[in-house]
Amino acid sequence: MSVILGIDIGGSGIKGAPVDTATGQLQTERFRIPTPDGARPEDVRDVVRQLVEHFALPGAVGVTFPGIVQHGHTLSAANVDKGWIGLDADTLFTDATGHDVHLINDADAAGLAEAKFGAGAGVPGTVLVLTFGTGIGSALIQDGTLIPNTELGHLWLRDKHAETWASDRARELDDLNWKQWGKRVSTYLQHLELLFSPDLFIIGGGVSKRPEKWLPHLQLGRSRVVPAQLQNEAGIVGAAMMAAQTGGRTTRPTGPVVGQATVPRKLRADPTLEAKKTVAKKPSSSGKAAAGKKTTSKR
Ligand code: BGC
Repeated sequence: MSVILGIDIGGSGIKGAPVDTATGQLQTERFRIPTPDGARPEDVRDVVRQLVEHFALPGAVGVTFPGIVQHGHTLSAANVDKGWIGLDADTLFTDATGHDVHLINDADAAGLAEAKFGAGAGVPGTVLVLTFGTGIGSALIQDGTLIPNTELGHLWLRDKHAETWASDRARELDDLNWKQWGKRVSTYLQHLELLFSPDLFIIGGGVSKRPEKWLPHLQLGRSRVVPAQLQNEAGIVGAAMMAAQTGGRTTRPTGPVVGQATVPRKLRADPTLEAKKTVAKKPSSSGKAAAGKKTTSKR
């Protein structure tokens, strides 16, 4: 039996529990600490350290993050502090805790867990797990294998940014009833159905607790839709599963030099996905003149 600590960084709480990665069962109650205001990297790091110390479990630790995670770096921050963009978060947490910490996107973690132990267990083919909360997260699974960082919440449906228009937060902000929200979600799912032809959609996030409210309002052509089963444990379980797969590795994978995700111009205008500008501004004409002068004076 391999028991690994899984930690889920969410908008309101950071939760952890030891997970038996062979069965997907939590070994104790979850321990939850409120997410510090603003969710800045150093504040979140301190909470993760507290959780690791609380459980005092040996070995690797899996941690979810609500943004793109590539080679241990966090590359986007739609709903958290922009200081995460381009950060080597694996190393930040590993140094802070003294454990080998592995990060994974939150929806990817939920997807792994649902595909192995939840609503997708034993389902062959293409499974698309979507989490509806503050944002929309996505996990694409093909015959049990995860294709990470799909970020399908940031699709555009004509002039509508999917996550801003159809997330659970959008339902609350726009004061939609379940039928109205179901209509938006159906439009979104129909578009995904066209693009991916999934055999199964699994709907997770907070809304998965009360499927009777929205499931009857979803209309799809070809695919089956079911609510997620692991609910608020999915992130913790998936994070632990991923750490169990990669755990024991002491060297970091090499890959392309990572800076930040390239955010299309249209998305950059969206305040939820505003990226830090690291690219130097084009010099203005007066700047060019000044640079020219400097070169001349050097000669
Ligand atoms: C982020 C995703 C995340 C989802 C759910 C989106 O805004 O871009 O990475 O999975 O929210 O938290």
